[in-house]
Amino acid sequence: PLDEVRAWVRDARRIAVLTGAGISAESGVPTFRDAQTGYWAQFNPMEMASETGFRAQPARVWDWYAHRRGLLAGVQPNAGHRALAAFAQHGRGRLTLITQNVDGLHQRSGSPDVLCLHGDLTADRWLDRPRACCDLAHAAPGHPPRCPTCGNLVRPGVVWFGEALPLPVLAAAQQAAQSCELMLVVGTAGAVYPAAGLAHQARHAGARVVVVNTAASELDGIAHAVLRGSAARLLPLLLDGPPMVEAP
Ligand code: APR
Repeated sequence: PLDEVRAWVRDARRIAVLTGAGISAESGVPTFRDAQTGYWAQFNPMEMASETGFRAQPARVWDWYAHRRGLLAGVQPNAGHRALAAFAQHGRGRLTLITQNVDGLHQRSGSPDVLCLHGDLTADRWLDRPRACCDLAHAAPGHPPRCPTCGNLVRPGVVWFGEALPLPVLAAAQQAAQSCELMLVVGTAGAVYPAAGLAHQARHAGARVVVVNTAASELDGIAHAVLRGSAARLLPLLLDGPPMVEAP
């Protein structure tokens, strides 16, 4: 169905794309639920990606995120990221990119206006409500850094399990899911909500849903088409068509 999906892309006035860790796999960024190499095969997500876990072991969690930040220095966007960025540049606003990823690779590849549902791995924020003394620029170095005056801890600016997503970002993503004619769901297991719910919303709103994934995902069941393969190989094939000529 590759040619069929290419035609859907060509004819869609509005396309929403939801990406997950799989789109960065070929850049060398580990995914979460891969049985062998996934982060959650090595670590307990509740210890490493929750506020409770951070409060229990701030140094261990901070160092893990520092390690992940360090990996970013050595990775590059891949052909999947670049195909999305190129389409956004010549697609005249037809494409809305929504990502669960915090690796910044969509932004580095040139995609504009990326809706980052789960925050940004390189962003710092305060663990407790910042007081007048709390200034990230003057945090005392440490694992984690902290406010030298009141001891407030610095934490990674990502969304942890059990935390609310940034509401303006989620609202924009839901708007895109409900108004698109086509949603491409790329490189996500579809296991985490509300992100995965966007695919259901698109389907219920009448959009065609296409899954691009190297393995079965929890969203295959609601897809009109499943393209089994890597994002780096398939997205350039899906998105390289001529931009639809807007009706006069
Ligand atoms: N191309 C396409 N898909 C791929 C590729 C690839 N090269 N490599 C792996 N995949 C697929 C896997 O088959 C899997 O379905 O990408 C998916 C990655 O799933 P997860 O590791 O669960 O990542 P994701 O779905 O993004 O996780 C969602 O969970 O831990 C939280 O906040 C974290 O944002 C993350 C969220």
